[in-house]
Amino acid sequence: MTFPSASQPGLFIAFEGGDGAGKSTQAAVLTQALTDAGKVVLRTREPGGTPVGEKLRSLVLDHGQGEIDARCEALIFAAARAAHTVQVIAPAMARGEVVISDRYIDSSIAYQGAGRGLGAGDVERVNEWATQGLWPDLTVLLDVTPEDGRSRRTAGDAAEDRLESEPDTFHAEIRQAFLDLAAAHPQRYLVLPAGQPVAELAAAIQARVSALLASHPAGQPAGTA
Ligand code: TYD
Repeated sequence: MTFPSASQPGLFIAFEGGDGAGKSTQAAVLTQALTDAGKVVLRTREPGGTPVGEKLRSLVLDHGQGEIDARCEALIFAAARAAHTVQVIAPAMARGEVVISDRYIDSSIAYQGAGRGLGAGDVERVNEWATQGLWPDLTVLLDVTPEDGRSRRTAGDAAEDRLESEPDTFHAEIRQAFLDLAAAHPQRYLVLPAGQPVAELAAAIQARVSALLASHPAGQPAGTA
């Protein structure tokens, strides 16, 4: 079975960007705005979103799990994503909801493909298989420099996870990989500088989502479609 997003009544929006880009803030603001407008929204995140995915999340992000080589890491993220897609995203899409995910396949292409050096092609193929080809209708990239990302995420002394604590050179490769993905898929991507004020970013994202919903009316409460 394949479930490409175009054949689903729902709308799938992914937020991407380096660590400290402010994805969670913008995902929350968009969820609230759509909910206030009467849409049915499912907000989720990766890695995670399912019981098995949350276990895989701590396995791959927590320090002290022993050696996790690059391929193993890529497969853990893909395994968590397979569960997330089949158990959470695809059913919500089939119900016609708006799905907002904090990260999706392009995080693996950037972090494992570029950051870990596994190559974009192999990582994309593994994830195509894991997700049965389900891609977002819109990917919002909050573009952040490694320096800004680090100072934003360590404000308040928050502890850094396994990936976040990689050096700035690693985060610079990830940033470039996201920009390359956006350039390769201009229809699917909205790229915004993460340093803009929260309200300005939110307005730009909502404008793009409203345009999409005008041509693709997802998120109607049951019985009103
Ligand atoms: P995230 O949930 O954004 O971090 P936090 O909750 O701490 O803000 O992402 C967790 C980390 O996992 C982040 O450093 C990016 C990394 N990651 C990958 O390396 N590959 C992936 O496929 C995904 C989804 C995340």
